[in-house]
Amino acid sequence: MKAVIKLQLILIGVCSAVKPSCDGRQNGAQCFRVLGGAVDVQLMDNVLQIPRFRWKRNNSVILYWRNNRVITRKDDRIPFFPINGSVRINDLRRNDSGEYKIEMFDRNGKNTGWKTLQLFVQAPVSSVQLAHDCLSQLQMKVSCVSQGDSPQYSWTLDGHTLTDSELFSRNTRTNIIVLRQNISGHLVCSVRNQISNSSKEMNLNYCVEKTSCDGRQHGAQCFANLRGAVDIQLTNNVSEIPRFTWIKGNSIILKWRKKKIVTPKNDRIPFFPSNGSVRINDLTRTDSGEYKIDMFDEDGYMMGCRTLQLFVQAPVSSVQLSHDCLSQGQMKVSCVSQGDSPQYSWTLDGHTLTDSELFSRNTETNIIVLRQNISGHLVCSVRNQVSNSSKEMNLNDCALEPSCDGRQNGAQCFGVLGGAVDVQLMDDVSEIPRFKWNINNSAIFFWKNNKVVPSKDDRIPFFPSNGSVRINDLTRTDSGEYELEMFDGNGKNIGWRTLQLFVKAPVSSVQLSHDCLSQGQMKVSCVSQGDSPQYSWTLDGHTLTDSELFSRNTETNIIVLRQNISGHLVCSVRNQVSNSSKEMNLAGCGFINCTSNGTQIAKWVYKENNTLCVEPTTVPPTTKYTSVGKKTQSNTSASSPNDNGHPWYIRLLPVMGGVLAALVIVLIASIAFICVHKKKKNTKAVEKEEDDQEMTYADVRIVKKQGRRVEKSEEADVEYGQVKFSKKPRISQTNPTVDDTVYAQVRKGR
Ligand SMILES: *[C@@H]1O[C@H](CO)[C@@H](O)[C@H](O)[C@H]1NC(C)=O
Ligand SMILES: *[C@@H]1O[C@H](CO)[C@@H](O)[C@H](O)[C@H]1NC(C)=O
Ligand SMILES: *[C@@H]1O[C@H](CO)[C@@H](O)[C@H](O)[C@H]1NC(C)=O
Ligand SMILES: *[C@@H]1O[C@H](CO)[C@@H](O)[C@H](O)[C@H]1NC(C)=O
Repeated sequence: MKAVIKLQLILIGVCSAVKPSCDGRQNGAQCFRVLGGAVDVQLMDNVLQIPRFRWKRNNSVILYWRNNRVITRKDDRIPFFPINGSVRINDLRRNDSGEYKIEMFDRNGKNTGWKTLQLFVQAPVSSVQLAHDCLSQLQMKVSCVSQGDSPQYSWTLDGHTLTDSELFSRNTRTNIIVLRQNISGHLVCSVRNQISNSSKEMNLNYCVEKTSCDGRQHGAQCFANLRGAVDIQLTNNVSEIPRFTWIKGNSIILKWRKKKIVTPKNDRIPFFPSNGSVRINDLTRTDSGEYKIDMFDEDGYMMGCRTLQLFVQAPVSSVQLSHDCLSQGQMKVSCVSQGDSPQYSWTLDGHTLTDSELFSRNTETNIIVLRQNISGHLVCSVRNQVSNSSKEMNLNDCALEPSCDGRQNGAQCFGVLGGAVDVQLMDDVSEIPRFKWNINNSAIFFWKNNKVVPSKDDRIPFFPSNGSVRINDLTRTDSGEYELEMFDGNGKNIGWRTLQLFVKAPVSSVQLSHDCLSQGQMKVSCVSQGDSPQYSWTLDGHTLTDSELFSRNTETNIIVLRQNISGHLVCSVRNQVSNSSKEMNLAGCGFINCTSNGTQIAKWVYKENNTLCVEPTTVPPTTKYTSVGKKTQSNTSASSPNDNGHPWYIRLLPVMGGVLAALVIVLIASIAFICVHKKKKNTKAVEKEEDDQEMTYADVRIVKKQGRRVEKSEEADVEYGQVKFSKKPRISQTNPTVDDTVYAQVRKGR
């Protein structure tokens, strides 16, 4: 027994770092010991030093030492060891706690002083129990209960201390916490007191509503939460239905006969005869489906039946909002949620989005595109039949922000790849005694005791003088979400804010190239390196007009100018971090029609490049050529070897003079065809690219919409189909006026 107690003491000593002996030689010492254990109190170095002493607890004498012996009554529980000047208290009780005082005397009985010590006898914390409960607003109350004296509680979730965004009720030191909606993870409650510690962990799943469902109506539809529970009211009063069988598919769940459940007890699906309701706990998707109750009278005659349809859905949760700046300054925002059949709705600054704010209109999808320069407080709300959830964010518009102001939560900043960005974290560093700066949830540095911890990073210096931090040599991996976690002097979290940094390659090396199309239009393309370039064009200082533009979209990097347009053309490119431009003097396209080295050339060429023919003509091709184009195409390829002036051709020339004339026409026609064909292709290419740019989000939207419709109509079909099919035959069965033979037949069938 003693051995066990000693072992326990040593173990506790190790765990709680309390020395196994209690040093009473220091005045005011404090000793903590475990209930039922023992304590060795060192009263002095050597008993010879103190000829007489009295040891008292709460003023009653326990031990009197005089003339080299203990003169108080011997107490086996509290032996004194003169050999080493220590006293032991065995089998510690709670009432051994208290103030102990040693009064010391010299040989003549003169008081030479006194010392006190406090002994605390505590029950160890143990058998930690965690219990959780869902509150009405789906917060979760978790309580941690431990046996033991003076327990102190601390909590972690997934390894970190609980944050404000997780805690609904804030005090984490108590044994009861309330977590916000939709919080799940690995929760640990640690309990300690001065002599021991213990902990308990559990995997928490967020709360889902328990739904109730009225199964007294035939054809009822009920929705319930995956992993939740549902109460289904089968009847008002169980005495109304002397016997019944509750069936799902081909399996009997519950059979009620003679006021008893005769099916094997199922803890997951208890029936409450007191109120005629049945509960299904821990719902899974396979609990979805049609449930049927067959009702019988005392004699076993069928009285009728009812069905109900149960839909088990995963609740919508963990809504995530993300946004993107599109090349033309619109902002694409997508809202993503876990859960079945989510329906999305959006508000900006409290009102539903208007046409003047929305660029792409469908607000029921999870992706919207906002027009340029829209900012405010955006909320995406998601709901399905069993739950709802939402997420909000502050939008800053997609315009370029010259400096990066991290003092606003949700700021957006842009930095140049390879460049640097200054982020203003706070007005004054003295406002925030401690903070932690994270990127994508991993710490960059801490600010603690007026120092950067772990050490100064030369690439990311912090300037306490003005509360700003610089990131040098920006790379794409510096893009992301930065979080400032702020703490007070005691290390208590006092809030956080985030900012998004976008590192973009600057637009640069703008290249302009041009091409003459078959009808004399000029295609000009502007190409730039860099991220998300936005293009704009001017000709002779003004933006391009319809009378100059053949293909109208001036925001793409390819334009097509009408015939005979010339002038000073500028292509400007910009993104959030830079801009660049390229200019050229455009000469128009000219039509040439000549023979060079025996080759017939008839096409539109750029005027300055026209070295093909000596005398360019400006006669445009007529539409006649395009109409014969198709026919001549195959002829052209068959006769193409002839074009190079093979000798046989030349020899035959005098004979086939008339034919030659025809051939020349055919040749021109075929070239014209090729040109026309090429032009079509080019125009197509232009249109295609424009389409692609616009389709990026349009696509998503349309696909989503269709998906939803299909889903919906499937659901609708299934629901109504089942209701319809089950209704008719059952109506006749439930009709109490149907004669006995019907019942008899039904019964036989069973
Ligand atoms: C003092 O001596 C006793 C008896 O030998 C021993 O059990 C005890 O552990 C000693 N106490 C200290 C504090 O050394
Ligand atoms: C201390 O508690 C024990 C029981 O744990 C009891 O027997 C004893 O009388 C108590 N002593 C005093 C002084 O109250
Ligand atoms: C029926 O009774 C049970 C047990 O008392 C209770 O838990 C349940 O909520 C009740 N159901 C309804 C629908 O009243
Ligand atoms: C803050 O101070 C540093 C060092 O003096 C300076 O380089 C930096 O530009 C300042 N930042 C801002 C935002 O004023």
